[in-house]
Amino acid sequence: MIISIGSDHIVPDIKMKISEYLKSKGHTVIDNGTYDFVRTHYPIFGKKAAEKVASGEADLGVILCGTGVGISNSANKVKGIRAALVRDVTTARYAKEYLNANVIAVGGRITGIGLIENIIDAFLEAQYQPTKENEEIIKGIDSLIKNDEGQFGNEHFFDEFIEKWDNGGYPKE
Ligand code: RB5
Repeated sequence: MIISIGSDHIVPDIKMKISEYLKSKGHTVIDNGTYDFVRTHYPIFGKKAAEKVASGEADLGVILCGTGVGISNSANKVKGIRAALVRDVTTARYAKEYLNANVIAVGGRITGIGLIENIIDAFLEAQYQPTKENEEIIKGIDSLIKNDEGQFGNEHFFDEFIEKWDNGGYPKE
């Protein structure tokens, strides 16, 4: 499979471990960054990683920030994305089987790498069950979101916010 991955500056090292793990399993990885510990912000990488999935360039996505909360919320703002923040194998399987999640998020500071690998395995191996009920639920979820004009694929979408971050308008971490 082709897996799109992304993280913020808090856990790029964990992202690299995930990348290596996926490659060792024979998957192709699209790494959307970030690539070092220089302060940036998770929405940029949630958006980038999610858009590869939404466009069909990647089959599925795996994203992470410190807690997984910020980046999963960001990915969920991309039309066509159903991102699930996951901390256990059962939820990972459920997210795919019932909600056809196409991205999973983990907290790189919360969940250990061994469990993250198990979560990824469960998510990739689980098969979506397209029952009438599941299809209706997913249709409802998908109908909630529309991209902002100029959002999809726009590298400059966050420029205004990045300027604020650079000027100390947001927390330091
Ligand atoms: C750092 O920006 C931290 O807030 C982030 O990694 C994440 O934990 C947010 O949910």
